[in-house]
Amino acid sequence: MFKKIEKDSFYYGFPVALMTTKDSSMTDNITVISSNWSLDKSMIIGLSLHSKGFLNLKMVHEATFNLADDTIWENVERIANTTGNENLPDYKKEAGYKYCSDKFTLGELTKIAGERVGSVRIKECPIQIETTLVDKKIRNDFAIIEFEIKNIFVNEDILFDSTHIDVDKWSPLIYKFRAYTTANQALGTNFRFQEFKK
Ligand SMILES: Cc1cc2nc3c(=O)[nH]c(=O)nc-3n(C[C@H](O)[C@H](O)[C@H](O)COP(=O)(O)O)c2cc1C
Repeated sequence: MFKKIEKDSFYYGFPVALMTTKDSSMTDNITVISSNWSLDKSMIIGLSLHSKGFLNLKMVHEATFNLADDTIWENVERIANTTGNENLPDYKKEAGYKYCSDKFTLGELTKIAGERVGSVRIKECPIQIETTLVDKKIRNDFAIIEFEIKNIFVNEDILFDSTHIDVDKWSPLIYKFRAYTTANQALGTNFRFQEFKK
């Protein structure tokens, strides 16, 4: 039997990315997101119009997507109820969000300078994707934003060789119905599998 249910949001399991952006005074911010996916050289995200991340992207069209693994879920949760936006909307105040000018210190996350973009990479994230903004579509109070991938950095710890990821060593942090989990239970591989696996 199936039951029809109603949900305002439906997070059935998405990878967690820490999106770094800069504002016009060059201050770095982290926006935790889970609405993200990539195809070829594109990266697509869903982002609240009230977030500091969105305000920053209106001014500086660059972002780095730092993909979190299962070892840093507590760092992510430490910054989860914060925003870099000083003018918190009422709904966020009521939900318990607080303004934070430096989520790197709060989350014990380390900045590494960007290469092709100004937004910083986060050392604790094994995969870092540098991008520039291509297009955005506004939908009520959020935007669907498309980026072009400029650079991908991968920590050597999860690489088999210079181009192949050892997939058993990559444990992405997954946000599943607002609980943190991971996805590293090997079941099998696709007929087009191109990475490394023991
Ligand atoms: C695990 C997780 C996933 C989230 N995913 C998204 C998302 O995909 N899009 C979004 O706009 N906000 C998302 N949020 C909420 C933002 O992180 C939150 O609004 C935050 O205050 C934004 O930070 P900023 O205002 O400094 O940019 C998520 C939060 C968490 C903890």
